[in-house]
Amino acid sequence: MAPSRKFFVGGNWKMNGKKQNLGELIGTLNAAKVPADTEVVCAPPTAYIDFARQKLDPKIAVAAQNCYKVTNGDFTGEISPGMIKDCRATWVVLGHSERRHVFGESNEPIGQKVARALTKVIVDNVKDWSKVILAYKPVWAIGTGKTATPQQAQEVQEKLRGWLKSNVSEAVAQSTPIIYGGSVTGATCKELAGQPDVDGFLVGGASLKPKFMDIINAKQ
Ligand code: 13P
Repeated sequence: MAPSRKFFVGGNWKMNGKKQNLGELIGTLNAAKVPADTEVVCAPPTAYIDFARQKLDPKIAVAAQNCYKVTNGDFTGEISPGMIKDCRATWVVLGHSERRHVFGESNEPIGQKVARALTKVIVDNVKDWSKVILAYKPVWAIGTGKTATPQQAQEVQEKLRGWLKSNVSEAVAQSTPIIYGGSVTGATCKELAGQPDVDGFLVGGASLKPKFMDIINAKQ
């Protein structure tokens, strides 16, 4: 039976934008039609999570770009999963290569954050993968304008799914969305979206432009 994974498109605004131009972008997104089988999530800078959630239509979810692993405390500059939820953001991007390269994050704390960011049920049972989306993002493709070819993305993402099958379970391998990120544009998205193991995108630069709608509609 063909897997029925929802197509997932994330727009990672990184450290870009101000209320004025993000507000205009939000207006464009709100006015556009999002296909029923596609989940769209925007990840604003931390300072604008609340702003974005208040302005964005409910058809678009909001993500934080990072979080720390504890509930609260003396951790200057950090935000907690509870604060993210309190602002009605429902996702968080963890383990981004920019966090690793610029801020020296390593696998261990990222794993701890993933456990903490998920619901209590999942903290108690880390084998529940139902709230996890994996992104394959070749570092040479991020912000460089060099998109992976559909064949390159498919090859790696198929291997990742195989890894999930061997290390977690067949069911998790079939149900977990694996998305691609790295210089996705309106021009490159359609062919990438046609690959059997490409379940969506995590988009940086192009998510700040009205053309992001073309990427949201890549599967149509
Ligand atoms: P670009 O789409 O700008 O290459 O960024 C990808 C990315 O890092 C998304 O998180």
